[in-house]
Amino acid sequence: MNKKLFPAIAFGLLSLLAVGGAISACTGTSAEAPDKSDVEGRIEALLSQMTLEEKIGQLNQLTGVGCQPARIQEIRSGSVGSILNEVDPDTVNALQREAVENSRLGIPLLIARDVIHGFKTIFPIPVGQAATWNPALVEEGARIAADEASSVGVRWTFSPMVDVSRDARWGRVAESFGEDPYLSGVLGVAMVKGYQTDDLSQPNTMAACVKHFVGYGASEGGKDYNTTWIPEPHLRDVYLPPFKACADAGAATFMCSFNDINGMPTNADKHLLRDILRGEWGWDGLMCSDWSSIQQMVPQGYCRDLKETAEKAANAGVDMDMQSFAYIGHLKELVEEGKVSEKTLDDLVRNVLRVKFRLGLFDNPYVDTATARRFFTASNLDASRRAAEESAILLKNEDGVLPLKPGIRIALAGPMMDARHDQNGTWVFDLEKDSTVTVLDAMKEMYGAGRIIEAQGLGFSRDKSSAAIASAAAKAKGADVIVYVCGEEAVLSGEAHCRTDLTLPGAQKEMLARLKATGKPVVTVVMTGRPMDITDVVANSDAVLYCFHPGTMGGPAIANVLSGKVNPSGHLPVSLPKASAQQPLYYSHKNTGRPAEGITLIDDIPLEAGQTSTGCTSFYLDAGDGALYPFGYGLSYTDFSYGPVVLSSDRMATDGSITATCEIENTGSVKGSTVAQLYVRDMVGSLCRPVKELKGFDKIELAPGEKRTVSFTVNASDLAFHQADNTLAVEPGDFKLWIAPDSESGDAKDFIVE
Ligand code: GLC
Repeated sequence: MNKKLFPAIAFGLLSLLAVGGAISACTGTSAEAPDKSDVEGRIEALLSQMTLEEKIGQLNQLTGVGCQPARIQEIRSGSVGSILNEVDPDTVNALQREAVENSRLGIPLLIARDVIHGFKTIFPIPVGQAATWNPALVEEGARIAADEASSVGVRWTFSPMVDVSRDARWGRVAESFGEDPYLSGVLGVAMVKGYQTDDLSQPNTMAACVKHFVGYGASEGGKDYNTTWIPEPHLRDVYLPPFKACADAGAATFMCSFNDINGMPTNADKHLLRDILRGEWGWDGLMCSDWSSIQQMVPQGYCRDLKETAEKAANAGVDMDMQSFAYIGHLKELVEEGKVSEKTLDDLVRNVLRVKFRLGLFDNPYVDTATARRFFTASNLDASRRAAEESAILLKNEDGVLPLKPGIRIALAGPMMDARHDQNGTWVFDLEKDSTVTVLDAMKEMYGAGRIIEAQGLGFSRDKSSAAIASAAAKAKGADVIVYVCGEEAVLSGEAHCRTDLTLPGAQKEMLARLKATGKPVVTVVMTGRPMDITDVVANSDAVLYCFHPGTMGGPAIANVLSGKVNPSGHLPVSLPKASAQQPLYYSHKNTGRPAEGITLIDDIPLEAGQTSTGCTSFYLDAGDGALYPFGYGLSYTDFSYGPVVLSSDRMATDGSITATCEIENTGSVKGSTVAQLYVRDMVGSLCRPVKELKGFDKIELAPGEKRTVSFTVNASDLAFHQADNTLAVEPGDFKLWIAPDSESGDAKDFIVE
């Protein structure tokens, strides 16, 4: 018998007896081996075997350093519960073998990675996936990501990020599902289901990690890691709902955030982590810190030293310490001093063991290295292309310049036209950039190299080389139409990459003006990680297609849309601003006592105008009010007619519901999809209410001339909001309801809650 295996087998037998004993002790039945589904029984049996050091070791997460001797020793001594950033399957198995066969209790490691929008086959960045308004597509992408990543041994991903993001200066808007709580919740749940399926013990699943809990998107000034000020009723109405939806969907883990809320770091926030997450929601998963976020409570000015951070985080309910070394360094002392009780510690350990049991790691800890990696399969690439196609948002299409006519000569220009790396966006640690199919690749494939004039000009998005622009513009004159692919390099969004200027970086604006000056029709494709200020871009373009970094198959997707092979169906999950400083910007704003009207723009103000002459309402002198393009907006190559909203009743009890329907017709000449969006407004509340809130949506495809009636049930509970005392209530009163293709259009229908 392999001596290394003996302890594990012995433990297995002991634990079965112990569990048997535990069961018989608490249920009076005869001792019997617990079935594998008795996770809680298995946890208790194991916990009863663990030393204080071994318990603390389970709470320690470290980044990968391969099989260095010191790491092997840490694992053998039971000092590591999880490792992130190991993606070589042989290394993963070697490390796992040390835990399972060479540590005293054989507890397997949780192997984690940031698989945010694909592992090898890269999908659009999450804000781009949000633009599809297609939960099934998002779930499919997550399923593929889990299948690819688990094939190298990754069983825990730090995704989905469901931070409601309403400030485009914040680089992490790229990782979010945008500005709306409802859309973020629906799509976050889709990702959780894709990663976990309904059987997390299957080897091709990954534990989801819903992050960053919570309110991180409200970072002041759109500057990453910054403080937030969020009154609890607002936290409960806007920032918590997507997390609650994911918790209810069975998300296995959460990650707390870097920010403080009203001066309280989330890593130490008992009210948040225990009262709300565990108490109110009854969630029993694993709460992990963010990278060194426990330690960061020292510079945050909340803790004096690392030991105090460990005490505060453990007592608040952070189960696992990612790379702070706070727990491994100080929890033993804290428990011995009674500052952290053994019960508190045991509960943290239970949450870690529970995920490991649910993942099936005790029964199947190793990755199957015999099976070929399932990367870049035809079906995976097909799914990536479909997601990129559905994420493309047509914002402008004057004189039907799109779709491009066959047989024309196309000048392809701009720094993002052949961006094998940057097309994939942020958080692509495992990218194989040669797998990327760029816009240039795809357009040459589609139209033939002879019809494509390569006029890239700028080499990258920050390039300021005017000389390159001149030569590009000269080449472009030989074309029938210019396709200008501009935007942001991947590094200009994502973590710690915030911008105050939301316009095109480098000399891209200058290049567009030069291309426009050729007199040729200009189709601009914006490939970016955030909502940008594209006011000038729109002014200088005949058509605009907005594509958040679209991933591996972004090129074919964009070529298919430009050619009309695919009718664009993306709708904005964010609001596009008229100016960079117009932040935060979101549709679900409060009305204020002086909503914008009688707008006088800065250049229209007469000289020596009187103080009150420009009207005293809520707008910017140099930008007016509202979005350049609103949340929910997106055009098609066909047209849709939305009929009047019909309500089953114009009155609803505070515990009742009504049905709202709308007939939609494709009045154009090609098949297309539209996203019917259901919005409501509570006209008067005990707290001021938003002018609109998304409460449902339905993406439908219609053939030319086809009509379909969409139907939504509006429950009174959908209209509830948190009162000043944080209780949730439905308040009787007057409401309005819309079913429309974006957050600004449509005619309201009135109803009363009584
Ligand atoms: C980072 C990010 C978090 C990520 C983690 C692990 O700092 O904030 O989203 O999952 O560290 O890489």
